[in-house]
Amino acid sequence: MPGLVIVGAQWGDEGKGKVTDLLAERADAIVRFQGGNNAGHTIVREGEEFKFHLIPSGILYPDKTCVIGNGVVLDPRILLGEIDGLRRRGIDVGNLKISANAHLIMPYHVLLDTAGEVKLGKLSIGTTRRGIGPCYADKALRLGIRVQDLLDEKILRTKIRAALEPKQQALRELSVQRRKLRKEAGEGDREAVEQELGDAPDPRLDLHTMTEEHVNYGHRLEPHIADTARVCWEALDAGRTVIFEGAQATLLDLDHGTYPFVTSSNPIAGAATVGAGIAPSDIEEVWGVAKAYATRVGAGPFPTELFEEVGRHMIDKGHEYGTTTGRERRCGWMDLVALRYAVRLNGMTSLAITKLDVLSGLDKLRVAVRYRSREGALLDRFPYHQSILHGAEAEYEELPGFDAELGKCRSESDLPRAARDYLDFVADFVGVPIRLVGVGPGREQVVWRD
Ligand code: IMP
Repeated sequence: MPGLVIVGAQWGDEGKGKVTDLLAERADAIVRFQGGNNAGHTIVREGEEFKFHLIPSGILYPDKTCVIGNGVVLDPRILLGEIDGLRRRGIDVGNLKISANAHLIMPYHVLLDTAGEVKLGKLSIGTTRRGIGPCYADKALRLGIRVQDLLDEKILRTKIRAALEPKQQALRELSVQRRKLRKEAGEGDREAVEQELGDAPDPRLDLHTMTEEHVNYGHRLEPHIADTARVCWEALDAGRTVIFEGAQATLLDLDHGTYPFVTSSNPIAGAATVGAGIAPSDIEEVWGVAKAYATRVGAGPFPTELFEEVGRHMIDKGHEYGTTTGRERRCGWMDLVALRYAVRLNGMTSLAITKLDVLSGLDKLRVAVRYRSREGALLDRFPYHQSILHGAEAEYEELPGFDAELGKCRSESDLPRAARDYLDFVADFVGVPIRLVGVGPGREQVVWRD
């Protein structure tokens, strides 16, 4: 069973890190294939919390190879911060391999991400402002800087110059805007303005400084830079298990998600082939991870969103604040129309349902089983047209709730009847077995099924 892909089945933050960490026990390599430090994976090991943005979740195992694939966009400053943080905690990162072909998030990408959002105003996407979109845009424009470029100062300088040139206008506008807002803001508001304009590092857009800084990053990253597709092939060809760890999630997919309120990469299972350099036939299993309810950060349609008491219950009990930006997440009931779409799109063979414990204490549970359009039509399928999705109202099946705390459940029989019925209803509806259920943040707080 060599190639296993783990993907988010909803709008992200489903707990993919924890599922990857658990499945990694039986794998030899763990590979990230898309996204960047817009992701945030939290793993709790023996009461100690680890947060990763770029490093694959398998890094806590000293004997596993961890790969940052070519499809990832990588901010070297952030990656080096993560490496240093792990080293300080005594974690060996010698097994970390970084694709020479991965693209770099440069300081101007971070600035342009923020500038784009500010400019969009009410129409903004609510990006993480980490430079993800502008970096992937440069990749498509063939103006990207890649990890391998860090190793050749001359090439690096030439490429940065070429990439900066078409952005001069936008960057000039940004600095004018910055100055204007600074002037308008009183002394007291200055901090807020700075935050609004960007939590980016000091914009050292000077070609010389930027080149020098990145050459230094290259020196530090060099021992990790590798031909990572080959690393994957060697493991797969030897029959070893390789996990491809998705970031973000299906409904944030650039092509198949709720465009334009999506990320700029493809977080679905098929993208593991492009983002890691493997063949479709290398993938044998696809695990989808979904919360027992639904959350979303940033703007965009969310048919089962809750605004009152029950939503608050989910935020408070589920600690629904972003790992990357700290933003409060929007919460809602589980959406089985969207989940069934994600199951088909990814070819999921198994589901992991996380945070079931958060639902305890609710009298009645609801799951969306169809939508009703503005015109009153009933929709069983996830609509492809954005105007229909924006106007869709969820229709629900109501199921009994449960009160018992689930944190100590370790087998299916420990779960209350209503919790088991809830899981069975979900699995039957979407047609995929639920193999793993999360009942708390700890790595031991899981129930394996089958
Ligand atoms: P970007 O990926 O920073 O460009 O943001 C685009 C959209 O994807 C925004 O709505 C973000 O909130 C969302 N997003 C990006 N990464 C994550 C994630 O890891 N979890 C949840 N939402 C995310």
